[in-house]
Amino acid sequence: MSLPIVAIAADHAGFVLKGELVAVLAANGYQALDLGTDGPESVDYPDIAERLVLAIRDGRAARGVLICGTGIGIGMAANRFPGIRAATCANATMARLARAHNDANVLSLGSRVMGVEAARDCLLTFLTTPFDGGDRHQRRIDKLA
Ligand code: RB5
Repeated sequence: MSLPIVAIAADHAGFVLKGELVAVLAANGYQALDLGTDGPESVDYPDIAERLVLAIRDGRAARGVLICGTGIGIGMAANRFPGIRAATCANATMARLARAHNDANVLSLGSRVMGVEAARDCLLTFLTTPFDGGDRHQRRIDKLA
């Protein structure tokens, strides 16, 4: 079974961590769709979030990973788009429950508030945890829409 294509994008605060996570994706058999940014020049996180959302919407990627300084602004921006459920996570438990209960399709991480190992654990947990399903969780997700 082929693994899903994972879109990944970061602002200037997150581009170094993005590089680390692209390597983690490749090492674990995932195809990364790297949407930038690729340097320290300042960019606006809403523009980066929109870029990644469009890749999910048009089917170029099944899941997304966004990185800014805290994971907060870029996650807020992504969640303004219908069909996007972005979860800002700081540890693997949050990432697991974001998938199991919220069926999150975008993981949002903060490069200034977590190290690469914690980010790696979040990413791999996010990608390997299925949605629990069931009426209870699905009903709540439907209400988000
Ligand atoms: C950029 O300096 C910073 O504000 C941004 O990366 C993010 O942390 C916003 O939520």
